[in-house]
Amino acid sequence: MKLAVFCSGRGSNLGALLDARDKGALPGAEFQVVVSDAKGAGALNAARERGVPALVVPRSAFHANQDGFERRLIEVLEPYGIELVILAGFQRVLGETFLKAYPQRVVNIHPALLPSFPGHMVWGNELEYGVKLAGATAHFVDPGVDTGPVIIQGAVPVLPGDDVEALSERILKVEHRIYPQAVAWLVSGRVELKGRTVAIKDLDPSPEETGASFIWPPLGK
Ligand code: GAR
Repeated sequence: MKLAVFCSGRGSNLGALLDARDKGALPGAEFQVVVSDAKGAGALNAARERGVPALVVPRSAFHANQDGFERRLIEVLEPYGIELVILAGFQRVLGETFLKAYPQRVVNIHPALLPSFPGHMVWGNELEYGVKLAGATAHFVDPGVDTGPVIIQGAVPVLPGDDVEALSERILKVEHRIYPQAVAWLVSGRVELKGRTVAIKDLDPSPEETGASFIWPPLGK
């Protein structure tokens, strides 16, 4: 499956995906191109260093013209025959124009347990709200903001004394585990989307995993 990855920043999720590829955990995944909306994105170098062409489509060049930006993205992807678009820290919303070109073929990683805390820079809001569990969600992209069908989620505790840096780092580790898994399922054709419910074909979790619950703070004294 031919993949494009869209990034805006440092590209650690891109790195986790390429690590998974290099370990043989993403058979059939062909990383064709990385696209950034920002010139200075670290993800551009990260991609090139690992043999993936990287391009910039500066959002700033399109001012209020969101449609023009999305049409340009479609044009840029055209020669690569892309079958799946992976948003990995891409800080732009994609609307109907782009999504119609890639129906049910755009996925995103979000640093919260959706549907709680959609949008940008969510860690401070989680700390302010006082949630005890935070986490990450890999999901299909629909025209809303972080509202598409959930593929996989992972939870982490919010610990006493956490600040945005500590919490976001803990969540990022979960992102790096669940996003390659979601992409592996997608590439191997095991993801079934019915309405907004995602089922993974031939999933064979161990009994412990099936019964596992993650409770925080821990029960007891
Ligand atoms: C990640 O935490 C990702 O979940 C988040 O941006 C960070 C990018 O890091 N994405 C969003 O907030 C999307 N709204 P990375 O560039 O190191 O992968």
